[in-house]
Amino acid sequence: MISEILQKAREYEERIEREIEAEDKPKFHLSARVGWLNDPNGFSFYNGVYHLFYQYYPYDTKWGPMHWGHAVSEDLLHWTYLPAALAPDMAYDTAGCFSGSAAALPDGRQLLMYTGVYKEMQSDGSVREIQTQCVAFGDGRDYEKYRNNPVLEEKDLPKHSSRYDFRDPKMWYGSDGILRCVIAGSTKEGDGQIYLFNSPDGIGWKFNKVLVSNRQRFGKIWECPDFFELDGKWVLIASPTEMLPKEPEYYNGNGTLCLIGTYDEKEEIFSEEQDQAVDYGIDYYAPATMLSPDGRRIMIGWMQNWDTCGLYKSERAWFGQMSLPRELSIKNGRLMQKPVRELNGVRGNEIRYDAVTVSAVTKLKGIKGRTVDMELAVRPVDPAAPYRRFEIRFAQDDLHFTSVSYCPETSAVCIDRTFSGSRRAAVHQRMCYVNSDNGKINLRMILDTFSAEIFVNDGAQALSMTFYTDPAADGISFLADGAAVMDVIKYDL
Ligand code: FRU
Repeated sequence: MISEILQKAREYEERIEREIEAEDKPKFHLSARVGWLNDPNGFSFYNGVYHLFYQYYPYDTKWGPMHWGHAVSEDLLHWTYLPAALAPDMAYDTAGCFSGSAAALPDGRQLLMYTGVYKEMQSDGSVREIQTQCVAFGDGRDYEKYRNNPVLEEKDLPKHSSRYDFRDPKMWYGSDGILRCVIAGSTKEGDGQIYLFNSPDGIGWKFNKVLVSNRQRFGKIWECPDFFELDGKWVLIASPTEMLPKEPEYYNGNGTLCLIGTYDEKEEIFSEEQDQAVDYGIDYYAPATMLSPDGRRIMIGWMQNWDTCGLYKSERAWFGQMSLPRELSIKNGRLMQKPVRELNGVRGNEIRYDAVTVSAVTKLKGIKGRTVDMELAVRPVDPAAPYRRFEIRFAQDDLHFTSVSYCPETSAVCIDRTFSGSRRAAVHQRMCYVNSDNGKINLRMILDTFSAEIFVNDGAQALSMTFYTDPAADGISFLADGAAVMDVIKYDL
C-alpha cells in the first residue's frame, strides 16, 4: 500500500522533473531528481542492478522532512530514477526517514533499514527529535514498512545512551550468515559511539556491543558508520560532526574519518591501527560502501557538506549530488580511492601531450571542457632544482577559474574555488599533504559540469568540490612557478 504522502511525492517529482534540462545536471553524478539530496542510502546490488537511495526532500532545494529517493544503474554512472521509496508517513517517522542501508533477504525481498525520527515534547516544554531504527521490505521499487516498527529504540541500548543521537544503520552479512549492523550513537554526555547489533532475520535485532568509542577524539557523533573488510584489514568509515581541526589531517566542522585496523570476527573486537580523512576536499560527507558482484568495495559519498551547502542558493529545481563511485583498496596502511573502472568505458576523444614544459601560462589545443577525465604526470625539468608551484586552472573564462595546485617544497596539494563565482565568504580552499617525491606527482581530475574530483598519486588522496560557475566557462590552463614537465592525457566524458 502506497501512502498518500508517498503518492504525493511520487507525483510531484515526476511533474517537476520535466522542468529540468539535462544540461543543467551533472552527466554521471547522481543528483536529486528534484529538490534536495543528501546522504547516499541503501547502496546495494539487488536483482541484477545497482540501487542507490538517497536522503531526499522533493519539495524544496533545502533540507526538509526526509524521504528516500531512489535510482538504479547497470554501470554506476548512468542512473535511472525510480519513484521515491520511502516517505515520512508513520507516527514513528513523521520528522523524517533518515539514513540507512539495504540487504537482500533469503526469500528474495530487499530489506531497507533506516532511522525513523519523530518529535516529542520534553518535560521542560522543549521539543526534541527521537531516533529509532525501522525496516521496510520491497521488490526493488515499492517498499512496505514493517507493521511493528520500530525494531530498535532506546530500551535496546546500553544505559547512558542518548535517544536523540541514534541513527544511520549499516547492515551486512557476517561470514556466519548472520546479519550485523553498525549504528551511530552517543553517550548521554554527547560522546560518539558505534554500536554493533545482530539479527537472524533483519527484523529482530539485538545489541551486541559498543564496537568503537569516540572518546572525544574526532568530533562528536560519528554519523553514517560503515564497517567492512578490505585487503586483509577492517575499515570503519564514519562522518564525525563538530570536528576540531587536527593538522594536517582534519578540518573544523563535519568531516570524514577512516579507521583502519584488524578485526577478530569471533570475539568481535576491532583493533584500530591508523586513522585518516576519507576526502580532503570541500564537499564530501556521509560516504557509504557496497560490495559489487565482482568483489570490489565501492564507496559513494554526498558531494556536499553541511558546513558549506547552505551558502549556495540553487537557481535550479534541484540541489545536491553524489561523488563518483570509487573503488577502495589499502596500500601501505592508507585507504586508496579510484573512480570506478566503468568510467574508462565512457571516455572519448583522447588527446595526449607528452613532455610539455610548463614555465608560464600554458594552454593546449583541445584541452578544455566541463565533462572531462584528465590524467597528468608532472615532474621537475631539473630534479636538483624543482619548480616551486604547479597549477591547473579549469572551469575558466575571463573572470572565473577553479584550481588545483601543488608545491613540492611543502608537499601540499591545494584546491581553490575562490574565483568560481561565489559571492559568499566561506570555505573556498582546502589542502592536504601528499608524498612529495621531489616534485614528481600524478593527478587525475574528473570534471562533471559542477564538480571536480581530484585523485593524487593513484588515489592516495582524494579531494572533491562543487562549484556553480556557468557551464560555458570551459577553459583549462596550466601554470608553473619554475619549470615543470608534464604528460597529459585528456578525455571527454
Ligand atoms: C548525515 C545525516 C545523518 C542523518 C541524515 C539526515 O548527513 O545527518 O546522520 O541520518 O543526514 O538527513
